Amino acid sequence: MPPIRAASPDAIAEAAACLRSGGLVAFPTETVYGLGADATDDRAVAHIFAAKGRPHFNPLIAHFADADTAAAEVVFDARADRLAAEVWPGPLTLVLPRRRDCRISLLCSAGLETQAVRVPDQPVAQELLRAVGRPVAAPSANRSGRISPTSATDVAADLGDTVDLILDGGACRVGIESSILDLSGRHPRLLRPGGLSLERLSELLGEAPEFAEPGGAVTSPGMLESHYAPDKPLRLEVDDPQPDEGLLAFGAEVPAGAAATLNLSPTGDTTEAAANLFAYLRRLDAAPVRALAAMPIPDIGLGLAIRDRLRRASAPRSA
Ligand code: TXA
Ligand code: MG
Repeated sequence: MPPIRAASPDAIAEAAACLRSGGLVAFPTETVYGLGADATDDRAVAHIFAAKGRPHFNPLIAHFADADTAAAEVVFDARADRLAAEVWPGPLTLVLPRRRDCRISLLCSAGLETQAVRVPDQPVAQELLRAVGRPVAAPSANRSGRISPTSATDVAADLGDTVDLILDGGACRVGIESSILDLSGRHPRLLRPGGLSLERLSELLGEAPEFAEPGGAVTSPGMLESHYAPDKPLRLEVDDPQPDEGLLAFGAEVPAGAAATLNLSPTGDTTEAAANLFAYLRRLDAAPVRALAAMPIPDIGLGLAIRDRLRRASAPRSA
């Protein structure tokens, strides 16, 4: 097992040195834990794909301490400037054209002419990124197709000794991955609903973004149908849980009858539910139940992202 280190200044300095010499470091962000590598180092980036067991070279998000360092690698337009100023640091990823002198490995763009960039809102991530002084490529620190990790122990359970170091910064505050907005075309396109609500994003853009079509042309492989998969089958929109099911509940009125129940938010708050989603999915998956069942979630606030992840978690598995 890789060392899990509490995120002290010493541990962060060690992690930064490890990244600068081509190593892999898992680190906390406000959304989920990331599996980081020096984004300017082709070999280090290639190691990410190997560690995740990713079948394809999916493009990766490059992480920065601030918008200015991101702007050295990709081209910001007025919309991107405004979103960065309002939201960063925060749970929004922007897909923007690469600059001609972009230093980020082409592997991170996976053949596209764009690069995804984001500035995380988490003190450990911020300190680490400043100490590294280079963009850090990081997908979620889970094996490909599995549930994203929201704690250091989740990372250790999933990635074992394929990482050099895991920085423990506690549980992730948002708990669901960043919203991904493609600004490389004329109209903004939401590639993945996430930690920034669609309502807020539309307000900031002054228009509702287009939606990337699920199952359509894969411009964002995170759009693959079977993703975020627990081991056990998952049934959605459930109001009649069975005695052999583990129920992911939401709201005050919870039907009886499940073998085990975890309530994402007894008060019906989608932000609280998002923060609990992946941890509760993992707990129910590990519980002595045959299958999982989830109650309906409203598509307001972070409910849209939760519904998206649950739909993928329940999708038929590709081999
Ligand atoms: O919250 C997050 O975004 C977390 C933390 C660690 O930052 N990261 C994350 O990375 O969720 P990952 O690799 O698990 O998901 C990123 C998604 C992938 O589905 C990928 O296909 C998409 O972003 N993506 C990355 N670069 C892209 C690009 N240039 N164009 C379109 N999609 C892109
Ligand atoms: Mg992921």
